[in-house]
Amino acid sequence: MDVTVRPAAPIRGRVRVPGDKSISHRAAIIGALGSGRTRVRGFLRADDCLHTLACLRDLGVVIDDAGAELVIRGTAGRLREPARVLDAGNSGTTIRLLSGVLAGQPFTAEIDGDQSLRRRPMDRVAEPLRQMGAVVEARDGMYPPLRISGGGLHGITYELPIASAQVKSAVLLAGLFATGETEVVELVPTRDHTERMLSGFGVPIRREGHGVTLSPAVPRGGPVDVPGDISSAAFLLAAAAAIEHSDLIVEDVGLNPTRTGVLDVLRTMGAAVSTEAVRDGPGEPVGTVSVRGGRLRGTMIAGALIPRVIDELPVLCVLAAVAEGRTVIRDAAELRVKESDRIGVLARGLRALGATVEERPDGMEIAGGRLREGIVDAEGDHRIAMAFAVAGLLAEGPVTVRGAESVQISFPGFFETLRALRES
Ligand code: S3P
Repeated sequence: MDVTVRPAAPIRGRVRVPGDKSISHRAAIIGALGSGRTRVRGFLRADDCLHTLACLRDLGVVIDDAGAELVIRGTAGRLREPARVLDAGNSGTTIRLLSGVLAGQPFTAEIDGDQSLRRRPMDRVAEPLRQMGAVVEARDGMYPPLRISGGGLHGITYELPIASAQVKSAVLLAGLFATGETEVVELVPTRDHTERMLSGFGVPIRREGHGVTLSPAVPRGGPVDVPGDISSAAFLLAAAAAIEHSDLIVEDVGLNPTRTGVLDVLRTMGAAVSTEAVRDGPGEPVGTVSVRGGRLRGTMIAGALIPRVIDELPVLCVLAAVAEGRTVIRDAAELRVKESDRIGVLARGLRALGATVEERPDGMEIAGGRLREGIVDAEGDHRIAMAFAVAGLLAEGPVTVRGAESVQISFPGFFETLRALRES
């Protein structure tokens, strides 16, 4: 599907965005492993999370999705051997977190995904799960489909070679089924939703320095309130930040500090951003974010900031192209193994809109200036589609986004929300 986005007048108003994707996946998976029922409010009914639900159903989990709440009947950790290959679709979180779960089950299961997922590296989860005692086979040693024969796990200490919350979570979820303690050491902190939810569900888990240590347990299911996804809000906040006289408020959005790097970068680029906490404490912090638009300047995004903005880098690159001065992005090689090679796809698309971009193996340099009209291809990647739609708002003429249907992966209603904001 092609969608054409035209340059925008100031964006003003108050919005909510769909539920957090990372937290929705975890609520479903950890709820399925728990005892009792887990009632989830605000679950993200988008393609990625629906694939997680379908996989869990194939593993014998009963999930009622009739009303406002999603109700997951816990299995106390005992899943059923699936009768078919599990389908993770486009979702890296589904395949990697479920790999950790399957490693703990006393049967063999296969899990696969779409063409994009089949190009993404899985050796990063296979390696620690093998160390724990699972048998994991992958196509060409590293790609889906994965065939996992689980059970008989023992705890390990595993230092993450790359900053990845998906790998951390896979090891911790496997640790629920292992003998002894499981420790994951991460030198650069990544999103900690798994740790927060396991702890909220009564699993003994503690953070000490760079390590997270978990003892095996059955999580106690309970209510989960999923906040709006800051990674979805980021597209709207970024657009408002770059359009003078905009004034946008996003309500009920997750403000977990491992996810709020985008707000820090917008501030560094010169935008007026403020947050107000509504809910804080050991669960997930939630609040309201306000942004006022103005002239932005280029910035440097690197180091420990990268995992805190990893999913927001596409839209920040678009902002960089209309900011004053250069923006440098480093230490972000992970972008090349997301739903697409995001460095390559962004560089191609931004150049098609007239930007000057130098690609690097682990990032890029963007010379700020103007974007002009054009046609760009999202190459099947939801966050690229939304980032290029924002480019359409900021460019001098209309931008046509090819493959715009991919927004269904994480933000159903994205274009309707954009339209409503432009008209308000
Ligand atoms: C996610 C972790 C990140 C992120 C992805 C969701 C998660 O991936 O990019 O969109 O829910 O744990 P990595 O763990 O590969 O960095």
